[in-house]
Amino acid sequence: MRLNIALLLTSNVVLATSFIINPLGSTIAPTTSQSRGILAAPFSTHLSVLTSGQSDTEVASSSSSTRSPLGIPGTADLEWEGLGFEFRPTKSNLRITYKDGEWGEFELCEDPTINIHMGATALHYGQACFEGLKAFTHPDGTVHVFRPKENAYRLSTSCTRVVMPVLPEATFLNAVNEVVRDNIEYVPPYGSGGALYLRPLLFGSGPRIGLQPADEYTFILMVMPVGDYYKGGLASPVDGLLITDFDRAAPRGVGNVKVAGNYAADMLPNMVSKSKGFPIGLYLDAKTQSMVEEFSTSNFVGIDSKNNKYVTPKSASVLPSITNKSLMTIASDEGMVVEEREVQLDELESFDEVLACGTAVVVTPVGSITLLGDVEDPDDVEASDVKKFVFGDSSEVGPVTRNLYDRVRAIQYGEEEDRYGWNMKIE
Ligand SMILES: Cc1ncc(COP(=O)(O)O)c(C=O)c1O
Repeated sequence: MRLNIALLLTSNVVLATSFIINPLGSTIAPTTSQSRGILAAPFSTHLSVLTSGQSDTEVASSSSSTRSPLGIPGTADLEWEGLGFEFRPTKSNLRITYKDGEWGEFELCEDPTINIHMGATALHYGQACFEGLKAFTHPDGTVHVFRPKENAYRLSTSCTRVVMPVLPEATFLNAVNEVVRDNIEYVPPYGSGGALYLRPLLFGSGPRIGLQPADEYTFILMVMPVGDYYKGGLASPVDGLLITDFDRAAPRGVGNVKVAGNYAADMLPNMVSKSKGFPIGLYLDAKTQSMVEEFSTSNFVGIDSKNNKYVTPKSASVLPSITNKSLMTIASDEGMVVEEREVQLDELESFDEVLACGTAVVVTPVGSITLLGDVEDPDDVEASDVKKFVFGDSSEVGPVTRNLYDRVRAIQYGEEEDRYGWNMKIE
């Protein structure tokens, strides 16, 4: 069923566009956008945000009695132990196009390149978003994807925010199943410590020269095997730098969704931090510069061991991390007090452990965070406005960080019972 939607922008320009009703019937409106009055019409269409938080164990996959049996993971001719986190060709990627108001059928393509119109809105106006998730081989040779429903949901929030059609959850999960199935030999074998990294990408591929949403969109699901970031166990903590010259996200901007432009904005601060000798940069809130937000590509977690607390910033401009959500569940189950709230910069003094969390590595232990102020030379630690927050014994991984990491990894690799229903089995 087709609906004509009027989008009322803040500039009082009314755009009319056409989307079809979400066949899953999800009708939750984009609350943040609506409350800001950007999107005037309530959506019950492909623009809808999906629901989050369900178990990932049961999914609709297109299993049919005529399909070939699932292949064996880890049989591609690769050095499994030597993989990093980088692009690597595999057998195929999966594509779905949105045209004439509806999503088409999926296609598995061997070509890693795309032929795109030079006027595509993704190229000019950044109408693009992406996701990241992983598939793991379990000891019995089965392959499981970690929490894909959460990625389907977050993708839907990103799409809604930048006025792109939402890919229905069932289509997303089916695409995940099909692309992993087709590339099963590239899923690293159990014991290698690696995973198949899935990178879903959705962007405006139709041309527009004036600022308005495209009428054609492309969803691509690419996959690549990646190695164990911490071969031989969690590495020593890294030193972080407080980013004070740049903001990652405005309070009512797009920091809470995974749109491409956020990462373009982060490239310069990221490079600057690294050039000063800090592998990881921490952003403060843009408005007051007094509260901790998040690292470039991972959420911030502070552990207050004395009070058995897991503390993570609550902010409208932080990306809701699926790893953080998982760690919060585990921490809470282990009796820790989980606090998702504003975290003042000065509170850094109270943490015994700090970690950065995200899909790529699960956790990165952070040993210290330095505030350089106007000091150019990071070695000039005697300068009066340099402040260094040190967490516990900054050269050792803390016990809480280690335990949380081990628990998540054990669930992902099928070594611990999946009592939360987070793993989706590839059929
Ligand atoms: C800005 C930002 N924050 C946090 C995360 C961690 O999210 P997740 O745990 O879902 O990978 C990511 C990575 O996706 C990110 O890019």
